[in-house]
Amino acid sequence: MILKYNIIILKYISLILIFISLSFPANSDLSVEETIKGRKAIFSKNYKTAKRIQALSTNGDFEKAKSLMLEMSENYRSLIEYFPDNTQEGYDTEALPIIWENKNEFNNLMIKASNNMIKLTEVVEQTDNISGTLKSLMWSNCKACHSKFREEH
Ligand code: HEC
Repeated sequence: MILKYNIIILKYISLILIFISLSFPANSDLSVEETIKGRKAIFSKNYKTAKRIQALSTNGDFEKAKSLMLEMSENYRSLIEYFPDNTQEGYDTEALPIIWENKNEFNNLMIKASNNMIKLTEVVEQTDNISGTLKSLMWSNCKACHSKFREEH
């Protein structure tokens, strides 16, 4: 009787273990598809956030604008992890191969863009030229990177 129960329990345990091992992909890192689509989604989100920051700052809603600036700053930092070697092509990526030939330069631009968003939270309320400040600390970073590292689109 006890033996029979033990066997049933063991069967359940092995079923559960099989289920657990199947539900994890062999490689627990993000797949190439998830990585490329993931970074595109973050860039698109940053674009939307930048436009909101522009509108909020122009209207003098600095608290909300500043929290979005910090969010964008964090997003830039996380983007650095989204360019592993195996994601140079596929899934309509607009990333250029030169990124992987100049990884340090690329990462440094990302860090600069991130740091500039923090700087922006410190100066946006003081400046009497909001539009110019947003241009130099936010929008110019997009162009600086895209002109070298992103395909024409
Ligand atoms: C340090 C480099 C860098 C900076 C800074 C940067 N980008 Fe990009 N961006 C890229 C790269 C590389 C891609 C292409 C990603 C891909 O297709 O895999 C991209 C793609 C995009 C896309 C297309 C996303 C999609 O769905 O395909 C948008 C929109 C975008 N960036 C907006 C911006 C805006 C707005 C800024 C500034 C506020 C900015 N980016 C700053 C490098 C950068």
